[in-house]
Amino acid sequence: MKQKRKLRIGLVGRGFMARAHTNAYKRIGDFFPELAYRPVLKAVCARNAEKVSAFAQQWQYETFETDWRKMVSRDDIDAIDICAPNDMHAKIAIAAAQAGKMVLCEKPLARTVAESLPMVEAVEQAGVANTVWYNYRRVPAVTLAKQIIDSGKLGRIFHYRANFLQDWTINPELPQGGEGLWRLDIDTAGSGVTGDLLAHCIDTAIWLNGSIKDVSAVTETFIKERMHQDSGTVEKVRIDDACIFHCHFANGSLGLFEATRYARGQKALKTFEINGEHASIRWDLHDQNRLDYFDHSDESIVRGWRSIHVSDSDQPYIDHWWIPGVCIGYEHTFVHHAADFLKSLETGEPCSPTFREALETQQVCEAVLDSARERQWKTVADA
Ligand SMILES: NC(=O)c1ccc[n+]([C@@H]2O[C@H](COP(=O)([O-])OP(=O)(O)OC[C@H]3O[C@@H](n4cnc5c(N)ncnc54)[C@H](O)[C@@H]3O)[C@@H](O)[C@H]2O)c1
Repeated sequence: MKQKRKLRIGLVGRGFMARAHTNAYKRIGDFFPELAYRPVLKAVCARNAEKVSAFAQQWQYETFETDWRKMVSRDDIDAIDICAPNDMHAKIAIAAAQAGKMVLCEKPLARTVAESLPMVEAVEQAGVANTVWYNYRRVPAVTLAKQIIDSGKLGRIFHYRANFLQDWTINPELPQGGEGLWRLDIDTAGSGVTGDLLAHCIDTAIWLNGSIKDVSAVTETFIKERMHQDSGTVEKVRIDDACIFHCHFANGSLGLFEATRYARGQKALKTFEINGEHASIRWDLHDQNRLDYFDHSDESIVRGWRSIHVSDSDQPYIDHWWIPGVCIGYEHTFVHHAADFLKSLETGEPCSPTFREALETQQVCEAVLDSARERQWKTVADA
């Protein structure tokens, strides 16, 4: 058997995404055996030695570190994977690129456009492979939607609609900041639902429907003050709890987006619907293996919404898993992304979205937040 080339991973974080990515690296060898590269779990880094040591042992990392700077400077690591909160992304990514490491960074690229730009410059100047984990592109049904749209079946696009709805911050007693709740702290997160949830919707939208030209947004912070876990005092909440915006796409279609953490009963309802001249497509994360498709050219006796169960072996990514008809889930999107990254090292083609591509999502997020604050339309390029 041909010897695999090793991609030695140094991963920052030991939380939700650290588990999702590590699981992906561990699955690749078995389910994508054709790849020339094989990930090696070289080191994991988090600040608490006891906890990161336990994580390393559980997930079978060879070593652990408590200072990301030390990990970035190690000679036995090829790629740095950033699964830390948003305020850490820029400094780690730039240091990693300058040390000649490949960089895989969680979304959003950073807290702001100003923070993102030097990240793009750093990876491009160093010439290192890079990608941002907008993993929903690699849900098979979403990839299939992209194939259908690119085939031209929808014709001219009129509407793009997307939501990302949750309900986990309704309790006013929930504190902000610190371990597990950094998403409510503006200094760490950069924004609320716009950078956390809408960024995913915007990335998917740009991928499926092209660039967004301009936006008009409203945001709301429903709970104005919360106890801050770090200071122990009640502080003003500065994140957006909910955000709604509409926009023009460059292809002439209209967009409508909504994200909130105050939709009681919704846990992670990420959706999109596209209405074209000839056909429409819709998808939602709660039923992620299905893609709904309506084609007006169907004979009237069978015309109607089809629910495509995306599980056949000739549909995206499925042939790497089980027999046709049985389902795969959330964790597989990360396996697909990691596999596509390894494949990109073989082909020399970038693994989308690159830092530069993810910058566009950042620019839309910033225009959205600016528009809501200034109560006026914003051109995305002006963000
Ligand atoms: N792609 C997705 O769908 C998706 C889903 C969730 C989170 N994310 C993104 O992933 C990133 C991490 O989110 P999460 O949900 O895993 O958060 P988390 O709170 O579960 O984990 C964050 C980890 O970072 C570690 N950390 C914090 N500061 C550190 C430092 N200075 N050095 C080393 N480690 C440090 C913490 O110990 C913790 O283990 C965020 O940028 C988030 O936006 C993406």
